[in-house]
Amino acid sequence: MEPLLLNKTAIITGASAGIGWATACELARHGARVVLTARRADRLMELAEKIKADGGQAWTVSGDAGDKTHIDHLLAQTMQWTGRLDIVVVNAGRGLAGGVLTSDETQWESLYKLNVLGAAHLMRASAQIMVENKSGDIVALGSVAGHNISPYSGFYGSTKWAIAAIAESLRREVCGQAVRVTTIKPGIVESEFQAVAGYTYENFTKSIVRFGKVLTPDDVAKVIGYVVSQPPHVHLNELVLRPTGQDYP
Ligand SMILES: NC(=O)c1ccc[n+]([C@@H]2O[C@H](COP(=O)([O-])OP(=O)(O)OC[C@H]3O[C@@H](n4cnc5c(N)ncnc54)[C@H](OP(=O)(O)O)[C@@H]3O)[C@@H](O)[C@H]2O)c1
Repeated sequence: MEPLLLNKTAIITGASAGIGWATACELARHGARVVLTARRADRLMELAEKIKADGGQAWTVSGDAGDKTHIDHLLAQTMQWTGRLDIVVVNAGRGLAGGVLTSDETQWESLYKLNVLGAAHLMRASAQIMVENKSGDIVALGSVAGHNISPYSGFYGSTKWAIAAIAESLRREVCGQAVRVTTIKPGIVESEFQAVAGYTYENFTKSIVRFGKVLTPDDVAKVIGYVVSQPPHVHLNELVLRPTGQDYP
């Protein structure tokens, strides 16, 4: 059987770790040509080599996902290398422990620049290309922390609430041109995310041990692969996936 995403080009941001790394492998496994981006060039190269060794096609562009110049360069390079743009996984992002009172205020601006403004620039620029082509998938990573705002990470949750709103707005703007915009809202996924966000045993792990086995990046990647492999008239536009034992958020 022909691979489901054969001849399609997919950009994956935040591909150097976690959900982005797993999603790049999953989409490449389905036949997509993948363009990988994040700040750590060495990790991107390692992943590209792995995908090529498995028979896939991969390119890398390192840069900051909160920087509009990098985003424009990423899209220009992708068009130059592969001549098309079919799937964009807007995944690069980070957490921040605490709520409005307890989170580190010095990180608020950089958090919004990456999680909201950079993501929105990429969604807008990708959608402009896809509307011209009358096809495409934009998949944005929200979070259950933006679905149910919790005091563990309320300020971070506000960025994910915002991205879900931006994705739904864009979906309504472009669905008539056969472009699908999807929000994926995972529960707890074990990755580098927890350390980067500043979660500790006391403020995080202690509370979630009762959830049992948490999600892996592969679990989320498989859902993204499923969403973008649907026939053009079918759109799973918003998905929440949690570890089975996670009651909240
Ligand atoms: N893990 C969870 O529990 C969870 C749950 C719900 C939603 N999410 C969301 O899922 C997405 C991926 O999370 P993850 O769990 O895979 O986290 P992760 O393992 O920490 O990976 C984050 C990725 O984002 C990249 N990144 C971070 N800052 C960047 C920047 N300024 N510019 C470019 N790339 C940057 C990192 O690469 P470099 O460091 O190399 O730049 C890395 O590739 C995030 O948007 C996160 O909010 C995670």
